[in-house]
Amino acid sequence: MNSKVKKIGVLTSGGDSPGMNPAIRAVVRTAAYHGIKVMGIKKGYNGLINGNMEEMDARSVSDTLQKGGTILQTDRCLEFKEMAGVKKGYEIAKVFGLDGLVVIGGDGSFRGAKDLCSVGLPTVAVPGTIDNDIDCSEYTIGFDTTLNTVKDAIDKIRDTATSHERCSIVEVMGRNAGYIAIHAGIACGAEVILVPEHPFDFDEDVLRPILESKSRGKKHSIIIVAEGIGGVTEMAKEIEEKTGIESRATILGYVQRGGSPTVRDRVVASMMGAMAVELLAAGKGNRIICMRDNKITDVDIEEGLNMKKELPIELVDLAKKLST
Ligand code: ADP
Ligand code: F6P
Repeated sequence: MNSKVKKIGVLTSGGDSPGMNPAIRAVVRTAAYHGIKVMGIKKGYNGLINGNMEEMDARSVSDTLQKGGTILQTDRCLEFKEMAGVKKGYEIAKVFGLDGLVVIGGDGSFRGAKDLCSVGLPTVAVPGTIDNDIDCSEYTIGFDTTLNTVKDAIDKIRDTATSHERCSIVEVMGRNAGYIAIHAGIACGAEVILVPEHPFDFDEDVLRPILESKSRGKKHSIIIVAEGIGGVTEMAKEIEEKTGIESRATILGYVQRGGSPTVRDRVVASMMGAMAVELLAAGKGNRIICMRDNKITDVDIEEGLNMKKELPIELVDLAKKLST
């Protein structure tokens, strides 16, 4: 253990995700275990730049494990995209005596974390985003809770779609990535999944499967569209015009970002948050905590940001096969 580490900060940044609270809790309690003080920084990098932080102890994270959102709140901070903002953050960290920082967020937040490392503040990044779009990690905190929310919603949409023999087109979140769409598609028995990573032909890949499934006697079609494709309202109109099947669009929206974290998110968040502190306590910064081969581990922040992971695009075909 590196006795030089006496005080660290923790912040959440970018879009919130269910499981950020268990991650914060793990950071605070692992630090307490090592006798390290923790400053909870409010509203992401804005709080760092403005010195908006207060000390947290083991009791300050009581009763937070089951809560969605983030008790530290989050924000997007344009100033931090410039090196002047990063240096200001570093200076404030020094004023508050921080020897290290844990940043819980997505890809954008990780770039800020890398910049903080480059100016001299040991920082460890923890993947927290519903989108599962961090390339160096198989999993990001929040993904499972979001998928369960999406699954509940689409199961309900399916009930009404079947009753009316309609086609339902459902837009799910994911920014430019199709992870939520592709997993929801398998879990919810979609006839069609559209993701930005995979080009598609509207007649061949959307209209044809809808008409075929109707001719096989199916009473509904579920089309899942990633927000990176969008346009579900227009799509519903076009499907109805061209197939004669009544069609309705639903944009699930922010309901997907809230809610009590699932067991998977609580466990992964607890493991990742704890490991972030173990690294800082051992004098190691400049790391991303990630899941690789189903294990929680860490990679160099710069290397991690340059990695690429593949969307399991074969699931598009699997969903098609299983929807017969
Ligand atoms: P996420 O972390 O969920 O991907 P954003 O991309 O909005 O969300 O990033 C969150 C915050 O991280 C931004 O508001 C900004 O403060 C910081 N950030 C994003 N991109 C960079 C960058 N290239 N360099 C430094 N900081 C960045
Ligand atoms: O990154 C999480 C996410 O919910 C994306 O799926 C979505 O594109 C984006 O954030 C929405 O961001 P905002 O909260 O700024 O509307």
